[in-house]
Amino acid sequence: MKTPIRVAVTGAAGQIGYSLLFRIASGAMFGPDQPVILQLIEAPIEKALKALEGVAMELDDCAFPLLKGIVQTSDPAVGFKDANWCLLVGAKPRGPGMERADLLKDNGAIFIGQGRTIDAVAAADARIAVVGNPANTNCMIAASQAKRLPAERFTAMVRLDQNRAQSQLAKKAGVDLTAVKDIFIYGNHSPTMFPAFAHATINGAPATSVITDTAWLQGPFCETVGKRGAAIIAARGLSSAASAANALVDHVRSLVTPGAIHSIAVKSEGRYGFDANIWAGMPVRTTTPGSYEVIEGYAMDAFAQAKIAATNKELADERAFVAEMIA
Ligand code: NAD
Ligand code: LMR
Repeated sequence: MKTPIRVAVTGAAGQIGYSLLFRIASGAMFGPDQPVILQLIEAPIEKALKALEGVAMELDDCAFPLLKGIVQTSDPAVGFKDANWCLLVGAKPRGPGMERADLLKDNGAIFIGQGRTIDAVAAADARIAVVGNPANTNCMIAASQAKRLPAERFTAMVRLDQNRAQSQLAKKAGVDLTAVKDIFIYGNHSPTMFPAFAHATINGAPATSVITDTAWLQGPFCETVGKRGAAIIAARGLSSAASAANALVDHVRSLVTPGAIHSIAVKSEGRYGFDANIWAGMPVRTTTPGSYEVIEGYAMDAFAQAKIAATNKELADERAFVAEMIA
């Protein structure tokens, strides 16, 4: 039996938490032979902590063989202590009519504190995955506080967008979902994101040779993927939760699976024309468990360059908006 790993999850009593924790404990995220200790962090609010107690009871009641302990806390120093993975889900979610930029200041303050605490108390091999919106910039903010942990350990989730794009392409082409490969997300987890359809394949052929409707690819396809979060909020009155939790399972599972090729948001370092200090979605290949290399060299045509410039501008603007906080 392997040594248990410690997985800290913020916002553990929230919507996403309720779909996520059971999948981590069942082995879906780290594999069927990897025991876990869940370190559940909630806001210091009575109602949230009470709800967390209920979630912990339900985890107990599942009798998951891989679940070797549950910590419940509102103290980040306790929750992130020795954590090997820090899954930053907790944040104020977007409501109807709100844009992610509205959330920047409120949530930025949370991620400053969490970045500092993780850097101080998490395990030496800690990896951080940010889901709470605006995810890219929150990730950048958390990483800005780290002196011990390197920037590449901080990633933000664009996997939900990748999964959405894969699903839309499969529907349009009338093929099984698994026939669609290499659809990667560039830029922000926001409506400006760019699902780079020109590099995708369908049954091994270029997606653009199967879906020849360029106007659809450039218009409704990009728009549907970019605005899917808002469409779900409009329909449910709540933001996506089960699909977001599923995407985080995929994000981490791919990151611990050498050879996996997938989209994550990472410190751009100037790749693909993004500003160096922002966190932008791009394709990576997992090298060793938890580590990755960015896949560079995908050619971008004029349409793709314009889309990347737009999402880069939004990310640069978000960074400028919080510049004082991270100085
Ligand atoms: P939710 O409101 O149901 O749950 C959030 C939880 O976080 C609440 O229980 C709240 O008490 C807790 N929380 C707030 N501040 C906290 C703090 N400082 N420390 C610990 N916990 C704290 O929201 P949700 O639907 O679970 O969504 C969570 C976040 O994920 C939101 O920001 C949402 O916009 C975002 N989201 C991102 C994606 C993505 O693809 N990146 C997808 C869906 C949702
Ligand atoms: C999503 O994409 O579903 C989430 O980020 C929720 C949102 O605010 O759009």
